[in-house]
Amino acid sequence: MQIGSIEEFQSKIKRVIITEEEIKSAVKKAGAMINSLYDGKPILLVSILKGSFVFLADLCKQITVPCEIGFMIAKSYYEGTQSSGIVRINMDLEHDVSKYNVIIVEDIVDTGRTLSDVVKLLKSRNPASLRVITLLDKPDRRITDFKADYSLFTIPDYFVIGYGLDCGEYYRNLPYIAEYSEGKDE
Ligand code: IMP
Ligand code: MG
Repeated sequence: MQIGSIEEFQSKIKRVIITEEEIKSAVKKAGAMINSLYDGKPILLVSILKGSFVFLADLCKQITVPCEIGFMIAKSYYEGTQSSGIVRINMDLEHDVSKYNVIIVEDIVDTGRTLSDVVKLLKSRNPASLRVITLLDKPDRRITDFKADYSLFTIPDYFVIGYGLDCGEYYRNLPYIAEYSEGKDE
């Protein structure tokens, strides 16, 4: 994707749907929930890159119990609209998950294909426990029966950008979540 000018870049940010303050308070609540659930047991936060890096950075600062951090780049293979159940791991975790209570940290659950495959894969490695936390949930678009254990915000079927989420690799650095404007004449 090519952005021709700063004006064009800014014109695609249609409207803010979740403010910086709203995110901050929801992340604080999510951190407190994790602290109460995992008191004393070692946690491994598994960030699915790239989209979850901003959420992970803020969430991990709210965690007051022993916690390690790992990263993974995973892509699902689809056959038409059907998940093949195969995930391509572009970068795998360095951790032996059998030693940890794993929490997968994701930016958004859309169709659910990526996470259902990643969960299947990590479960096959026998983690002590496994939960999924997602910043955003877009249930209208789901084509799998995947459900996150904890989602901070449920949103309608908008394409969203900011706070880690991109469009053509841009906008990840916005401090809020905004709806993306597809056309110039909207
Ligand atoms: P899935 O369809 O649930 O497998 O989601 C795959 C990935 O698509 C997510 O992890 C996001 O990185 C990306 N994605 C889905 N919806 C959006 C969106 O509205 N904005 C930006 N990225 C999205
Ligand atoms: Mg993602």
